[in-house]
Amino acid sequence: MAILVLGGAGYIGSHTVYELIEAGRDVVVADNLITGFKAAIHPKARFYQVDIRDRKAADQLFEREQIDGVIHFAAFSQVGESMKNPLKYYDNNLYGTTVLLQSMVAHGVDKIVFSSTAATYGEPERIPILESDKTVPTNCYGETKLAMEKMMRWTGIAHPMHYVALRYFNACGAHASGKIGEAHDPETHLIPLILQVPLGKREKISIYGDDYPTKDGTCIRDYIHVSDLAQAHILALDYLMKGGESDVFNLGNGVGFTVKEVIDVARAVTGHPIPSEVVPRRAGDPAQLVASSDKAKTILGWKPQLDSLETIVASAWNWHKAHPNGFNG
Ligand code: UFG
Repeated sequence: MAILVLGGAGYIGSHTVYELIEAGRDVVVADNLITGFKAAIHPKARFYQVDIRDRKAADQLFEREQIDGVIHFAAFSQVGESMKNPLKYYDNNLYGTTVLLQSMVAHGVDKIVFSSTAATYGEPERIPILESDKTVPTNCYGETKLAMEKMMRWTGIAHPMHYVALRYFNACGAHASGKIGEAHDPETHLIPLILQVPLGKREKISIYGDDYPTKDGTCIRDYIHVSDLAQAHILALDYLMKGGESDVFNLGNGVGFTVKEVIDVARAVTGHPIPSEVVPRRAGDPAQLVASSDKAKTILGWKPQLDSLETIVASAWNWHKAHPNGFNG
């Protein structure tokens, strides 16, 4: 019996595949390679180049492989792009998930772990954020992820389907092997952008606003290592395999760092002065996003291992130094 990882060539998906294979699981990866990279797929995973919107291809996959659980990362994930092209997000994220769930129901595959996001909350009503807090997304990306969660919930009411939605905070860092890491095109995330400065690819890092109501005026985020996120997927799958109820879990470290603090850590890790410049706020950025992950710790038994920001930035630096152009060299 195998685990099907949809989007297993992407950033968090590829790290989860590495952890699954290290844990001795049989893994099938499906990815359309629109944003994922073939080189990110673990050589021991069986790979199918499949788009989840293609029902025939999904059916063939479930007929050919004995799948007993699905981990679903296959979605577009750029907040800015989702605001400019919302229908692209509805098509891939919502229509794609509809087709996937239809095919799963038709083939009796009844367990799915789903890649959700802190963007489902929108502007938080309190810090740290609990799973029971209100979900009012402020961007289309978060809206589609919340709708995907709801689609799974209603599917689970009508059919024998159980799901776990994992709401990640700020995923970062890279695999300890140095073989895989973060590679987005275009890159919009803070840590890889900061590291482009010591790599000589960028003169300085822009700080999006220093007039937020935080200790140094810059936004606070909860940075969580991608390998810790990957472990949570395995725990969530095992929880469902043991008969666990459908549920939603936050995944973060529970500690917030300002943009300026992250830049300072990167200066210490790289030994580079990393010049910075304050520019206007980026639209839609909440001042603070920090998770309470107590529920994942209590129910799933999750415990982040790589929880110091220095360790996280050092692991990202290790990857970017060796692969300044990501999977293209
Ligand atoms: N930032 C800068 N300069 C940059 C890039 C980012 O100051 O060049 C700031 C942002 O304003 C934000 C922080 O750094 O305050 C982190 O920004 P990221 O783009 O790295 O991450 P976000 O917090 O915006 O996004 C993350 C996930 C999204 C998810 C979102 C929820 O990557 O998938 O949290 O709000 F939707």
